Amino acid sequence: MDAITNLPNYLDQSEAVKNRFDRLKQREVILEVKNLGKVYKSAKGEVTALKDINFKTHRREFVCVIGPSGCGKSTLIRILAGLESHTSGDVLLDDKPVTGPGRDRGMVFQGYTLFPWLTVKKNVMFGLEMNNANTEEAAREASLWLELVGLDKFANAYPHELSGGMKQRVAIARALVNKPRILLMDEPFGALDAQSRAKMQAHLLEIWRNVDVTILFITHDLDEAIFLADRILVLKAHPGEVQELIEVPVPRPRIPGNYTSPEFLVTKARLEALIHPPKSATELESEEVSITQHMIRFVNVEDNVE
Ligand SMILES: Nc1ncnc2c1ncn2[C@@H]1O[C@H](COP(=O)(O)OP(=O)(O)OP(=O)(O)O)[C@@H](O)[C@H]1O
Ligand SMILES: [Mg+2]
Repeated sequence: MDAITNLPNYLDQSEAVKNRFDRLKQREVILEVKNLGKVYKSAKGEVTALKDINFKTHRREFVCVIGPSGCGKSTLIRILAGLESHTSGDVLLDDKPVTGPGRDRGMVFQGYTLFPWLTVKKNVMFGLEMNNANTEEAAREASLWLELVGLDKFANAYPHELSGGMKQRVAIARALVNKPRILLMDEPFGALDAQSRAKMQAHLLEIWRNVDVTILFITHDLDEAIFLADRILVLKAHPGEVQELIEVPVPRPRIPGNYTSPEFLVTKARLEALIHPPKSATELESEEVSITQHMIRFVNVEDNVE
């Protein structure tokens, strides 16, 4: 018998968790996405990357976005960042339409995006100086943020002297130094090994606890999403549509490495069911056929070699 059957439902919330969500929903809305759609047009035809996406995030909320590869997660975050146009619907930040990039949004990507020729501190100062802050003021601000991400001792180091996790901490400091309303993160820990990744997750929660910022965080990793998020937006592919917006029933503070509490397990089971739904007999059969065809081709290649 499946052990999951003895667990509570993922929709069940303890009094403390329910109260937290009640309070959270009373906070102001920072980001509102209404009927958002994106169609890419190319020589090969049209791709509907996003269709009718609707959700809101509240002040200091932590929302994770998950979904199969190609379901439009990066497209969504690039539209929110103002780096990509949308085909239909609206994106409102503090009730104002997003029409391009702005200081009110900070971005952290999976790839390391620090300037290699600048020191850690100069990297963090860069955005401020671009926005006309004087050097002294920018240096003071950068030091404060480096302290917050625990890298004040590395202020004069260059990016190549840092580990992957440390580089992403600098990227977070650089994004936060402009005091954005929302921090947009696209698989920021995707390139890290499991241990550094777990450390960075705990570290990010610690930063978030100390800063007035809303976070939208894309990940492929279900454990990561449950560990970090208040709510998880689950997308499906082709076209990218919202399947469910799940309120994570795991209480805060979250305990690093504790991925086996009943609330954690039921949430994970729900996410698994949404992302990897059981296949029908016809789907399994057609997969079998294509594997067999593949093998026949492989055998032919071997024959040719002989
Ligand atoms: N510039 C583009 N031109 C045409 N199609 C695109 C473009 N960018 C993305 N797409 C298509 O839009 C869909 C969504 O892509 P997107 O990169 O947003 O997915 P994703 O969920 O971030 O995937 P992954 O998990 O692999 O990062 C895919 O089918 C992709 O091929
Ligand atoms: Mg992506």
